[in-house]
Amino acid sequence: MSSAKKQYKRITIKSLMEMKANGEKIAMLTSYDYTMAKIVDNSGIDIILVGDSASNVMAGHETTLPITLDQMIYHASSVIRAIEHCLVVVDLPFGTYQGNSRQALESSIRIMKESGGHAVKLEGGSEISESITRILSAGIPVMGHLGLTPQSIYKFGTYTVRAKKEAEAEKLKQDALLLQELGCFAIVIEKVPAKLAEEVAKSLRIPIIGIGAGGGVDGQVLVTHDMLGMTQEFSPRFLRRYANLFDEMSEAFKNYIKDVKSTDFPNKKEQY
Ligand code: KIV
Repeated sequence: MSSAKKQYKRITIKSLMEMKANGEKIAMLTSYDYTMAKIVDNSGIDIILVGDSASNVMAGHETTLPITLDQMIYHASSVIRAIEHCLVVVDLPFGTYQGNSRQALESSIRIMKESGGHAVKLEGGSEISESITRILSAGIPVMGHLGLTPQSIYKFGTYTVRAKKEAEAEKLKQDALLLQELGCFAIVIEKVPAKLAEEVAKSLRIPIIGIGAGGGVDGQVLVTHDMLGMTQEFSPRFLRRYANLFDEMSEAFKNYIKDVKSTDFPNKKEQY
């Protein structure tokens, strides 16, 4: 493992492979808008994920299912306008790639052309292998997503830890290997036992980015609004909060309201 961290001006798929080879962990966060993406990119993040979690975080839906391709393109193009350093991966939303591989390719091409994103992410393993192959054949980089796949929430009914049983763990290992062999450049593995995720990461050449998958993988991803403590209702064990912005923002809003009501704002210096 190399101790000196290489400085990358611009993160590419090649840089991510180098990070894995050098034992440098990959840091990934979500963004859905220009202002947040600018702050996240400026902080030195390796990958921004324009996740379909925008459906929950931005639009207030209970699941990721309702968000549309047009909405994902809107979010991704806002993010792209902000970034100078990181790689931007865009989720293909539910219903835009499961139909057949032609649909998957068309959706991916729209994302690449209309948003300027650098890669797409799809949920699933062997069942979507044809779609992945076709997208890759157009030169579009693909990130996989295994373990808890929120787009299939109604198949499972809960957001509990996945692949605890032997058969499911075996399928996950096979799917991860398949995604690597098809040509995916990385895989997100969500909410599975740490030991299993580590085993997968050690057995593959491509980076495994975990969320709720322990520290033995090649990188971590969190939803930015969750790690900043802006969302309150979502509190899984794997979520570390780095700020409590819900309280800090509430305090700022309350102070503003107080100042407006009391006519303290604007004062003489704050007007023309
Ligand atoms: O949509 C999303 O934010 C994601 C992450 C949770 C990995 O897929």
